[in-house]
Amino acid sequence: MTLRRGARCGLAAVAAAALQACTPASEPADAGDAFGLPPLVRPAGSAGNAAQIELGRKLFFDRRLAFNGVMSCAMCHVPEEGFTSHASKTAVGIEGKSLQRNAPTLLNVAWQTTFFHDGRETSLATQAWMPLLHPDEMANPSIGFVLQRIRALPDYDGLFERAFGGAGPGMESLGAALAAFETTLVAADSRFDRWRYRGEAAALNAQEQQGFAIFTGKGRCAACHEVGATSALFTDGGFHVTGAGQAASGEDAAIIVPLAPGVQTVLRGAHLAGFPETAAPDLGRFEITLDPADRFAFKTPGLRNVARTAPYMHDGSLATLEAVVDFYDRGGGDVGDKDARIVPLGLSAHEKQALVAFLRSLDGARVDALAARSRPQESAAR
Ligand code: HEC
Ligand code: HEC
Repeated sequence: MTLRRGARCGLAAVAAAALQACTPASEPADAGDAFGLPPLVRPAGSAGNAAQIELGRKLFFDRRLAFNGVMSCAMCHVPEEGFTSHASKTAVGIEGKSLQRNAPTLLNVAWQTTFFHDGRETSLATQAWMPLLHPDEMANPSIGFVLQRIRALPDYDGLFERAFGGAGPGMESLGAALAAFETTLVAADSRFDRWRYRGEAAALNAQEQQGFAIFTGKGRCAACHEVGATSALFTDGGFHVTGAGQAASGEDAAIIVPLAPGVQTVLRGAHLAGFPETAAPDLGRFEITLDPADRFAFKTPGLRNVARTAPYMHDGSLATLEAVVDFYDRGGGDVGDKDARIVPLGLSAHEKQALVAFLRSLDGARVDALAARSRPQESAAR
């Protein structure tokens, strides 16, 4: 094994499971970027090897995977923007088409058990086909079309075969390669983890510690954004109605529409009133279960690295962490059947600041290095 591979093995004791060649025995049990996350549970045989990870990386950054050849996964899940996109509240797809939802971060995505804000997918490997085929995202007409295009690209010659025991580009291997790459996006070992799970009393300052007390106490946040005794995902993996997006939209809501890299225009909600897509309410989990209790329910996001993943909520309607805390303090959004725990909290200005300070302590220790390292070495293409 080369030193370079060795360095990647240190990435995360857990993501290292994706690199079968690694020997975690050489690492202390609590080392690596996954410190503070629970052990990664996944089906036997689903761990990707190094060739699959490299192929997944190439695919993730490859704009030629979109029908018009100019949009990659990384353009909506930008490494330097917490693997989401700060530019717009809801993602912007092919030819500037606006999506209904905000792009979630892909950091620690391997720990998720359901995918998308409504949880409609159940594995990372199958998830990838959704953006590839969605008419407003990468807009490919079919699975076969994508595979045919990849087969015709000389720089993919032999890469699938090498990664997948001789098999060429296929529906499953393409998803598996992307999933193998995404599984390396691990960013925990935050100051909070060192304070709580390593016993480093000074890793959080007094204000951040007060924020944590509010998070688990008066603020009721940990009821859904769970914190365990030995690890924390900051999510219960469930779906809840907070009312996010129900009060924040409106005629004055500004919508920033990127037209090309670095070129934007601002539209007001009123300009879009005539467009049926923007008028249709997003019913969230209900669209998957048809259970009336799931109307406007969305997946509880994990909060690790949350300071880097603005804007917030399924529709990106809250621009800052301060706005999120104000939203909860008011008792959530304007919708009938909210979760019983979303109630006015009566937090003082000082308590709100402490809560925000705590949320900012959840940045993974080496998240910037991860962003830089995640890009393919050979090209700067997004
Ligand atoms: C046009 C922007 C855009 C592109 C391109 C895009 N995504 Fe996404 N991605 C999104 C949005 C928006 C969502 C949330 C959609 C929803 O919940 O309905 C999402 C959700 C996801 C999720 C689920 C994460 C979670 O926490 O549930 C994964 C994983 C993901 N994308 C990976 C990819 C991969 C891999 C590609 C390339 C094949 C890709 N995305 C291309 C915008 C995009
Ligand atoms: C009843 C469960 C529940 C409680 C209690 C709760 N949350 Fe949430 N939280 C959610 C759900 C569900 C979402 C996603 C809402 C959406 O996408 O519209 C969310 C979203 C968020 C987000 C946005 C994350 C992102 O990436 O977009 C932050 C930040 C957040 N919550 C912090 C808090 C804080 C701080 C508290 C306590 C004051 C709290 N939450 C209490 C369920 C809850």
